[in-house]
Amino acid sequence: MEDTEKIVEEAAAEAQSAQSSRALYEVKMKFLGRTGKLTALLKNMKEIAAELRPAFGKRVNAVRERLEELFAAREEHVKARELAEKLASEQVDVTMPAKRQRRGALHPITKTREELCDIFSGMGFEVFEGPEIESEYYNLTALNIPADHPARDMQDTFYITEKFLLRSQTSAGQIRLMEKKKPPIKMLSPGRVFRADDDATHAPMFHQMEGLVVDRGITLGDLQGMLDEFARTMFAETAKTRLRPSYFPFTEPSVEVDVSCTACGGKGCALCKGTGWIEVLGAGMVNRKVLENCGIDPDEYTGFAFGMGIDRIAMLKYGIRHIRSFTENDVRFLEQFRD
Ligand code: DAH
Repeated sequence: MEDTEKIVEEAAAEAQSAQSSRALYEVKMKFLGRTGKLTALLKNMKEIAAELRPAFGKRVNAVRERLEELFAAREEHVKARELAEKLASEQVDVTMPAKRQRRGALHPITKTREELCDIFSGMGFEVFEGPEIESEYYNLTALNIPADHPARDMQDTFYITEKFLLRSQTSAGQIRLMEKKKPPIKMLSPGRVFRADDDATHAPMFHQMEGLVVDRGITLGDLQGMLDEFARTMFAETAKTRLRPSYFPFTEPSVEVDVSCTACGGKGCALCKGTGWIEVLGAGMVNRKVLENCGIDPDEYTGFAFGMGIDRIAMLKYGIRHIRSFTENDVRFLEQFRD
């Protein structure tokens, strides 16, 4: 009987000092578990005189009940504290500013290229991509620039071998396409081109967009109409174009095409050097010799071609001063093109 009193005191003291539900569980097992102290008392039953056994049994059961109540009360207390601690540690300050998800952006060259492809696809052009390593034949000879022709010097070409080079113009794609496909042709050929050239507006690698239309009865008027449409969609609803005579070996006649200044709208400013116009591309009627080189009869078919610098268009559109900005990979520059 005395033992039971001691057990209750001991259990009360240990339960009180248990600081976590895990520790409390261990205390509980120490007294009430299968090998616990109270259970051990019951095992001594046979050493007790038979007449005292019922009273002893009752006593032990009463103690069990007391202990259970005692542990339950302590458990409630410990659990409540644990919950409060958990809530405090997981507290969220809903007034804090949200963390911004930083999304990537398309490169301005990619954006411009996609925009150009969109505009011309809308006019029925299909995209054809030629190789970056090109033969001298496709890049020069077939475009009416034979070996001894002074026009070879117009572009400072990187040669890989005597016959192969890094294409200096996407015009090479015209020949590849016309060899495969006969008119009607409406082709767009975007891609990288390479020239030994290097200053604020020229880089040894840049991007061009070539266009070619060949069919019966195509005229320079068709070219101009298409260019006007292009300028209005790409730059401004009020944009105008102007053709100036020029020379390219693969077109006859050849023109250089200006767009009314994208900064001042034509009044004259620093960007257009006071002229109101900005040169954006070269174009012309496909030279008879080029058509012949591809097995297309120049008496039956005529066509126009144009080639523009994608980097240059992007520089105009976004007001970029140095062509280097495109390849420096500075996130502060690239970030500005996020939609
Ligand atoms: N290939 C020329 C260049 O790189 C641009 C060009 C001019 C392309 C006239 C054409 C064209 O198709 O007709 O400077």
